[in-house]
Amino acid sequence: MPSTTPRSFPPEFLFGAATAAYQIEGAAHDDGRTDSIWDAFTRLPGAVVNGDNGDVACDHYHRYRDDVALMAQLGLQTYRFSTSWARVRPDGGPVNPQGLDFYSRLVDELLGKGIMPWLTLYHWDLPQALEENGGWTNRDTAYRFAEFALDVHDALGDRVTAWTTLNEPWCSSFLSYIGGEHAPGRQDPAAGLAAAHHLLLGHGLAIGELRARDENLSLGITLNLSVVDPVDAGDAADRDAARRIDGQFNRFFLDPILRGAYPDDVLEDVAGLGFERVVKPGDLEIISRPIDALGVNYYHGESVSARPAGDEITTAAPSERPKRSPFPAADGVHWHSRGLPITAMDWEVQPEGLTRLLIRVHEEYTGPAGVALSVTENGAAYDDVVEPDGSIHDAERVAFLESHLGAILDAIDAGVPVHGYFYWSLMDNFEWAWGYDKRFGIVRVDYDTQERTPKDSAIAYTRIITGRAL
Ligand code: FCB
Repeated sequence: MPSTTPRSFPPEFLFGAATAAYQIEGAAHDDGRTDSIWDAFTRLPGAVVNGDNGDVACDHYHRYRDDVALMAQLGLQTYRFSTSWARVRPDGGPVNPQGLDFYSRLVDELLGKGIMPWLTLYHWDLPQALEENGGWTNRDTAYRFAEFALDVHDALGDRVTAWTTLNEPWCSSFLSYIGGEHAPGRQDPAAGLAAAHHLLLGHGLAIGELRARDENLSLGITLNLSVVDPVDAGDAADRDAARRIDGQFNRFFLDPILRGAYPDDVLEDVAGLGFERVVKPGDLEIISRPIDALGVNYYHGESVSARPAGDEITTAAPSERPKRSPFPAADGVHWHSRGLPITAMDWEVQPEGLTRLLIRVHEEYTGPAGVALSVTENGAAYDDVVEPDGSIHDAERVAFLESHLGAILDAIDAGVPVHGYFYWSLMDNFEWAWGYDKRFGIVRVDYDTQERTPKDSAIAYTRIITGRAL
């Protein structure tokens, strides 16, 4: 029977929402900004649905004051945003004070409204000039990233305490350099592995530099993690499929950061791709430098088998590729539908997976390391309908939000200290290869007028935040 007693969140639990620079800022050519890999990628024919790009996006660069006022109206306690490397160091070159100043004004605006800034340094938008020099396959990019981190710290370190190095390195390496579905659109397994290692190296270098600057900062990284189940737990081939997918989504990133080593079984899975030559002596000590915070992005779980299924789930991006993961060891793995409700992305709605994931990450990784765990992204795209009076009754998104917050409370009840939750996203925005076709916001954006309208989900979230209970 459903409980009627409100379930409260711990007093220190933070409620927020998340965005990313390229997805909302627009102003692609303002104040000295030059191309990132996403500007270049969106110009490739067929790379993005409808040929959309982030030139204007939500025009947040010019509307940030109103957007922060809206956040305050919604009752957000914290706001997760990212900084554009191509704005701060156009072409990866010298610092551009005008670019940095935008983030300084944004942070002041947030603090003025009592909203805690939660800064992510890199959410996938490498300066195109660095890509032309090899991008993340070039070890030097890791060192350039640490420099960029210090530049941002120079400008904001007096006011921002929560620093995240990278968002979802799985996407900015495997999906981008092997799958070709994200910028820079390369399709080369060895390049994807090198990119992943150099991203992690850049993370560790930046952690070291920032820590040396100020030991009071809260430093961390955000990973997209999943809960991976074999379709038939009694079948050895299905269990091996689950092991391989868990290896490339979860352990390939968690293990080096929190245990100082890549998992042996995944190294075996990728044997022959030259990865051992990419990892230099001392790198893992850098990558495993202590962090304070781990952000988990969770959208759905995986139900995998060595056998094809009639109701196979294929790629998550609008490409012709039949596979859900571009990772080499994902060959021969089939994603089966669980028959759960799906979002407009064809992602299954699986809140209990979030509970299991948080328990696992806490028990195996963050708990022993004393690292604070937060959910830094979780959300759903639906085909919203605007009523004649302008309102948006997005009941499915309300249910998604409530069920996933409930899943977090279940994890907390099971003894996992979860520090906060950031809904993805504050507002509809440029959803990468899907362009403006998929809407994740709790606030609707009318891309013709740039009008913002809180959906029913925003109203529901405000009620939850105000009552601090479900
Ligand atoms: C995550 C990304 C975020 C957004 C959501 C839907 O993988 O970090 O930018 O695209 O998915």
